Amino acid sequence: MNVIVEEDYAALSQRAAGIVASQVARKPGCVLGLATGVTSIGLYEALVERYRAQEISFSRVTTFNLDEYLGLGPDDPRSFAYFMRRHFFSRVDLDPARVHLLNGVAADPEEECARYETAIAEAGGIDLQVLGVGQNGHIGFNEPGTPPGSLTRVVRLSPETVRRNSRLAGQPVPDRALSMGIKTIMQARRILLLASGRDKAAAVAEALQGEVTPAVPASILQLHPGVTAVLDRDAAALLRNWRELCEGL
Ligand code: GLP
Repeated sequence: MNVIVEEDYAALSQRAAGIVASQVARKPGCVLGLATGVTSIGLYEALVERYRAQEISFSRVTTFNLDEYLGLGPDDPRSFAYFMRRHFFSRVDLDPARVHLLNGVAADPEEECARYETAIAEAGGIDLQVLGVGQNGHIGFNEPGTPPGSLTRVVRLSPETVRRNSRLAGQPVPDRALSMGIKTIMQARRILLLASGRDKAAAVAEALQGEVTPAVPASILQLHPGVTAVLDRDAAALLRNWRELCEGL
């Protein structure tokens, strides 16, 4: 795993934007997997800046978001569809026909998840998947205990996740969601893992240097050959020998 430790959140966001931008430069028609959450806001801000400076175009890019709350439509401010529109989609030249989100209000959520898997495959698979990590080690909404073979499906969120995300949203969020599975994520050709802040340090250390176990869903990323983790110093605080990690791996 390639580990990059930046001084702070601003530097992390710029570095992450650089990695996404070079993916798009290399392959203008690439497929990006996108994440929501507080951590990703700086990345989207930095990408919007680059777009406005005419350094990057998303006109041929296809996107797939990781997850969505069950029962929330795109106009609900708690939904990830709303988040993406606000922070990214409405501010760049993405073609709406190539933007994919799980529909939280689909009549048949399981069928919606199966449709999503097919759409990812038909797009040729994900070239670069952006990921955050939960304090409990979740990726997407794959909570501890999720089997490695899981595909996109309806999931139940842990009480901690519901509590934290409700606090961030300023109102209660649903306790069920649609999420890409661990296998869906691991099928991406490259993965960009972002983590910022001291409250992520334990999850980061377990994910990057602990045992590979479904108890820490992000730990499976150790088995993927194309992961770059971009951390700030606070998130890297509990890593053993991170300086060597940065140089060596
Ligand atoms: C959320 C999302 C994840 C996100 C993670 C970290 O619940 N489902 O996709 O990456 O948890 O979120 P944050 O960046 O807000 O800490």
